[in-house]
Amino acid sequence: MVDIKSKVDIEKMRVAGKLASEVLEMIGQYVKPGVSTEELDQICHDYIVKEQNAIPAPLNYKGFPKSICTSVNHQVCHGIPSDDKILKESDIINIDVTVIKEGFHGDTSKMYHVGKPSILAERLCKVTQECMYQAISIVKPGLHIGNIGAVIQKHAYDNNFSVVKDYCGHGIGKNFHESPQILHYGIKNTGIRLEEGMTFTIEPMINSGKYKTKLLNDGWTVVTQDHSLSAQWEHTILVTNNGYEILTLRDEENIEKKL
Ligand code: MF3
Ligand code: CO
Ligand code: CO
Repeated sequence: MVDIKSKVDIEKMRVAGKLASEVLEMIGQYVKPGVSTEELDQICHDYIVKEQNAIPAPLNYKGFPKSICTSVNHQVCHGIPSDDKILKESDIINIDVTVIKEGFHGDTSKMYHVGKPSILAERLCKVTQECMYQAISIVKPGLHIGNIGAVIQKHAYDNNFSVVKDYCGHGIGKNFHESPQILHYGIKNTGIRLEEGMTFTIEPMINSGKYKTKLLNDGWTVVTQDHSLSAQWEHTILVTNNGYEILTLRDEENIEKKL
């Protein structure tokens, strides 16, 4: 049972998506060696609440204690911002922002390099972003949902990386997470078919080592079992009558160039 958004819903999704994308644009200048992930959280929290008059969806979501997720190096996703986590030269960090505006969610994340990245970290982040873009580019009504995962899996494997299987993309709208699940691995021409008016995220998590993950004792932070590096990028997508619209597109992105 996948919700089909009305014209009015879609307009609200556009607004929420744009706000989420603007948080990622705003926070970039603060991602520097010496900053704590707690400080990044506070800056995003205040921006969302005071400047955007919106709600940071993660805060108190199923007990999550902060307003954004910050996942550094071997952390896969759902990292909890903390005073103790100070960014250092050549770290990579995913910042995942979800805002609620007029009852609708926009969910997006990107990787940031802290200073100069290692060759491997830079390649992992680039390939993961390409996985997301390649998957987005095939979205249109009638597409089997399995094709999204198949495209991501192929590009990751072609680059000798692995795909996290324990977490997936999701339908989104009035709810943070709704049907359908969007797996980042899969088989072409399997699964449900996309329809105009569906909104969902594509958010591949790709590891430089093995695919297995482990949940830390804080109940949230997901890490790679082998402590290899992990990267993730996420956009919220609308299925249009003949393709897709990226609801969380940032000004810095030039999709044509990257495909
Ligand atoms: N933003 C994440 C996603 O892409 C979900 C974070 S849930 C939280 O689905 F509770 F950790 F914030
Ligand atoms: Co998401
Ligand atoms: Co997210």
